[in-house]
Amino acid sequence: MPCQSNNATPPEPAIAPGVESIDPAQVARTFTIDPRIPALVPGFDAPFFQAGLAGYSDAAMRIIARRHGCPYCVTEALLDRTLLGGGKGFAKANLENLADNVPGGAEDHPLAGQIMGSDPNEMAAAAVKLIEQAKRPAHEYRKIRERGFDAAPEGKAVEPSKSNRSFSTIDVNLACPVKKIKAKARGGHWLREPDGAIDILRAVRHALPLEINTTVKLRRGSDDSPQAAQNFDRIFNAAYDLGYAWTTVHARTVEQKYVGPSRWTFLKDLTARHPDKIIFASGDIWQAEDIFRMIAFTGIHAVAVARGCIGNPWIFQQARQLMTGIKPEPPTIAEQRQVLEDHFRLSVAVNGEALAGRLMRKFGIRFSAHHPTAEAVRVEFIKVNTTDEWLTVLNEHYTA
Ligand SMILES: Cc1cc2nc3c(=O)[nH]c(=O)nc-3n(C[C@H](O)[C@H](O)[C@H](O)COP(=O)(O)O)c2cc1C
Repeated sequence: MPCQSNNATPPEPAIAPGVESIDPAQVARTFTIDPRIPALVPGFDAPFFQAGLAGYSDAAMRIIARRHGCPYCVTEALLDRTLLGGGKGFAKANLENLADNVPGGAEDHPLAGQIMGSDPNEMAAAAVKLIEQAKRPAHEYRKIRERGFDAAPEGKAVEPSKSNRSFSTIDVNLACPVKKIKAKARGGHWLREPDGAIDILRAVRHALPLEINTTVKLRRGSDDSPQAAQNFDRIFNAAYDLGYAWTTVHARTVEQKYVGPSRWTFLKDLTARHPDKIIFASGDIWQAEDIFRMIAFTGIHAVAVARGCIGNPWIFQQARQLMTGIKPEPPTIAEQRQVLEDHFRLSVAVNGEALAGRLMRKFGIRFSAHHPTAEAVRVEFIKVNTTDEWLTVLNEHYTA
């Protein structure tokens, strides 16, 4: 999994002095989404979405999130090379085998496909292949990769038929703290090399038809040095100049990985400096209320929900409840069981039973936090491998 890292850091509050004086319920009730967002992505009607989460945010998790009110999802970071090789990453992105989730199908839409890589042409070719769902022979994508998009006009992106389009947006990952491979930057390491980062952003934008949005995920910097701040500003501004619809800024540094608080003060300063730009943000969203705290504190337009939604799709439902003035309630045992059954079934459809068993164990551990005897249930989920074992835990602990 390209972007996976230590996610066991216990929740801790973001750096946001004075945030405790904000009433999130009040913010939610009076909030209206910036109309530019649903204009760019029809259906994106609330100020939150499911972030890319390598090893988690597959179609099964996304569909469960959507059924709980999540208006928009991002795939995990798919490596450009994996996509071009037609490997596992692409098979995962191409969900034609999942009956209720064909590309562009009603349940898994609108969707951003996220790509990450080291070479601008390769990223451009991967972006085209992703939105076209590999409609052309492989050599055509290779040609874009080898000669560059502009050098291969016959490689111009074909217009994917509207009914068959799965991705409204291509999101470029310049945030993931993965290690460099053979001294080549990718993900967040591009924040130290702004010229290369901008070349990638340009190549991807040029390769895609205009009605496919391009967006970029960034960290607040590679580290906290003045040089890192300058690099961030260059890449951030270049993205909008190139026509990127928005940036999502994770308010930790690449050096921090996922450890320590995210700095919401950085986001507040960023929106003050760029009042006209659409800016999304990520970092330290653990409960529905945090979404509205972050919006009120920072002035950003929408919030990426990441670790806070693993095993907790109710966070989206609760955010919608807050927006309609309803006090959010924790899920009942019956509601938990329904989700545990549905998520497992969807995961088997997407991943096959053997992989689903292993993947769902990670989710079960997180789902168990909602149970009155959380520790006992967690221990049971750790042992699960098969559908039968999953159902045994449900029958033992989730009968109302
Ligand atoms: C296990 C794991 C996998 C992640 N994978 C991705 C990814 O593929 N793409 C991405 O943009 N961000 C990825 N992230 C970063 C999250 O989207 C998010 O920005 C980060 O976790 C900060 O938000 P949080 O503190 O609310 O969890 C990942 C984070 C974790 C913990």
